[in-house]
Amino acid sequence: MNKSSQWYQTFFDGLYAKVLPKTFDQQTTLKQARIVKRLLRLRKDQRALDIPCGLGRLTIPLAQMGLDMTGVDLTESYLWRARRLAKKNHLNIRLVHSDMRDIAFDSEFDAAFNWFGSFGYFSDADNLAFAKRVFQALKPGGRFLVEGINKSWLLSHFRRRMEQTVGGVRITYLNRWDAKTSRVSCTWILCKGSKTERRQISLREYNGSEIRFLLRTAGFRDIELYGNPPLGRFTRHSRRLIAVARHPSL
Ligand SMILES: C[S@@+](CC[C@H](N)C(=O)[O-])C[C@H]1O[C@@H](n2cnc3c(N)ncnc32)[C@H](O)[C@@H]1O
Repeated sequence: MNKSSQWYQTFFDGLYAKVLPKTFDQQTTLKQARIVKRLLRLRKDQRALDIPCGLGRLTIPLAQMGLDMTGVDLTESYLWRARRLAKKNHLNIRLVHSDMRDIAFDSEFDAAFNWFGSFGYFSDADNLAFAKRVFQALKPGGRFLVEGINKSWLLSHFRRRMEQTVGGVRITYLNRWDAKTSRVSCTWILCKGSKTERRQISLREYNGSEIRFLLRTAGFRDIELYGNPPLGRFTRHSRRLIAVARHPSL
């Protein structure tokens, strides 16, 4: 595993830390949490793993719904913010600082999820290795959900340059597509006041059959695909892709 100075080790601590909390309003976050709970068929007191959990955006509402939550993330400052929020809400949540590829949970969870474009940060081998670690973390019959952009939609709407302002940060995206690796390389230029950051990120994108294949290779079965919220049927025109896979029962 190549872990030497990768973009995701520093990107999230930069100006993006002001963007993430403003990306979804509370109502949208709550809707997403309900989708996670429903698709993973989670019942009160069951154990779920939010990986990576970021600021605990979904971990907290799911704990409030009565689930026994664990969150894992690499960005320590995000975990501190999640811990503060959990404490304020009198919630007992386990928040673990770790690279998502290094988790060593064994048959502990009823479900796990990876939400909001957080899959595909690594090489193809490491993305698969991560899915295998999640497989190992689940009890037999447990479910894993992955949510992200649908590669087919991305390619039919590909724009080399985009701009938006989120959380007072002006972001310019300069995108390049590499068809050989199925990766998008994006230069993010983030500006707030007199501060400007230029960051390079690289993401492996998946279409429906590719994510299905990866999850099957990791050992999962019964893989179901869903499209845009509120849970439309998945087609190549769906902007988002949600895959739900099951760890086979013994
Ligand atoms: C786009 S955010 C999504 C966070 C959360 N899932 C949500 O929906 O709000 C991606 C997260 O991945 C975390 N991350 C990036 N690389 C990671 C790694 N190698 N291991 C664990 N977490 C990582 C970042 O710190 C960040 O919190």
